[in-house]
Amino acid sequence: MTSRIKLIEEAKKLLQENDMGGYTVPTHGLYPFQWNWDAAITALGWMKVDEIRAWQEIEMLLKGQWENGMVPHIVFHKQVDSYFPGADVWGSNRELATTTISQPPVLVSVVKIMLEQAKDKTLANNKLKEMLPSLIAYHQWWYNDRDPENTGLVVSYHPWESGMDNSPAWDKSLAAVPPVTYQYKRKDLEHVDSDERPHASEYDRYLFLVDFYKKSNFDSKVMYKECPYKMYDVGIISILHKGTKDLISLCNSFGVEQQKIHWFEKEYQKTTFAIQRLWNEEHQSFLNTDAITNESFPVLTTGTMLALYGEFANREQAISLRALMKDWLADTGYGMSSTYAKCEAYEPQRYWRGPVWLHINWLLALGTDHYGFDDESQQLKFSSEVLINESGYFEYFNSETGAGCGGGQFSWTAAIALHWFL
Ligand code: DGY
Repeated sequence: MTSRIKLIEEAKKLLQENDMGGYTVPTHGLYPFQWNWDAAITALGWMKVDEIRAWQEIEMLLKGQWENGMVPHIVFHKQVDSYFPGADVWGSNRELATTTISQPPVLVSVVKIMLEQAKDKTLANNKLKEMLPSLIAYHQWWYNDRDPENTGLVVSYHPWESGMDNSPAWDKSLAAVPPVTYQYKRKDLEHVDSDERPHASEYDRYLFLVDFYKKSNFDSKVMYKECPYKMYDVGIISILHKGTKDLISLCNSFGVEQQKIHWFEKEYQKTTFAIQRLWNEEHQSFLNTDAITNESFPVLTTGTMLALYGEFANREQAISLRALMKDWLADTGYGMSSTYAKCEAYEPQRYWRGPVWLHINWLLALGTDHYGFDDESQQLKFSSEVLINESGYFEYFNSETGAGCGGGQFSWTAAIALHWFL
C-alpha cells in the first residue's frame, strides 16, 4: 500500500471513529461534543466518504441554532463528563443544551464548496434549499447582534469565540476581565500536557465571561453594552465577510428575495470600508483591536493574516502582507505558525501562541490564491502535506519541529487533508 492510500484510509477511519451518530467529535475525551467551525470543516472531509453523512453534520449543528439566529460554538448533543466547562456551567437552559457564544462563521463558505463539489447534485440542492433560511439567519444575527451600532465591524465577546482561544492578541483585553474566585476543576489537563494549554489565570477569566452572559440573561443589548471583553477580531471579521460574499451568491442562485440580498450587500460594503480602520501603517498589517478601549495590538497572528482570506487588502496592502508571509514562512518549517515567530509572545507548542493548524494553512492558501500569490499557496499546501506525513492527524503541530500537539486523532485535520491534498 502506498503511504498516500494509507493516509486516506486512516483519515476516513478516523472520521468514522469520531462519528457519534450524525455529528463528529473533534477528538474523544478532550472535546466530546459538536463544535461549530470544527463541524463545518469536518463536513468537507465527510464529502470524500459519504455525502449524505456530510450534509447531516451540518444539519446536526443547525439543530443547536437559537431563535435569534446564533449558531452556538458547542452543541451538547449528549451528556459526557470528560469536558469542562460543560452545559451546566453555560446554563443555556435549552432543550438541546449549547454554549452561549458562537465561533468563526466558516459554515456558509463550506456549504458553498460542498454544493459545488457534490457528486449528488439533487441531494445537495435539496439540502441547501432546506438550510438556506438558517444560514441567512445566522449571518443576520452576526450583523444585528454584534454590530448594533452599524459600524461595519462585528465584535467578539470571548477568546473562545475567535476559535484561536489562547492567542497572545487577546492577552491584554483578557487581563482586564476580572477572574472568578471560586474553585473549579479543569479537565483539559487530564488529556493534554499543561505546556500545550492555556494558563489558569486565563481560564479564571474565560469563566468570568461565561458567568457574565448568564447574569445578563443572554440579552443581546445588555451583553453589547456591558460585556467586559469586546474585540474587533480580524479573523472573525474576515471569515464572516467571505461567508457573506458566498451567502449572497447562494441567495442569488436559489432565488432568495432581492430585498434580503440587498441587505447583505449593504453589510458587505460597510465592512469593506470599515476594516480599513484596523490597518496599521507601521506594522503593515490589519490589527486586532479592543472595541472598548480602541487599543490595537501589534501581535501578528494567523488571525490578522486572514484578512487575505477575507479579501480585504488592496493591492498595496496585499503586497505588504505577502512580504510578511514570506518572512513568516521562512522562520518556521511547516506553514504559518499561529503567532509570527518574531513576536515576543510566540511559543511554538502552546495553544494558538505559535503552533500550526492545518485548516488555517488551508484558509490562508485560499486567501493567497485570491491574490494570485501562487508560490505561497503552494508552500502552504506542501508544508501541510509534510506535517501529515511526518506526524499524522493531530489537533495542531509544533511550528518548529512539526511534532503533533494537543488532541490526537483529530477530525478537522483529517478532514482538511482529505479535502485539500489527499
Ligand atoms: C476549549 O475548551 O479549549 C475549546 O477550545 C473551547 O472552544
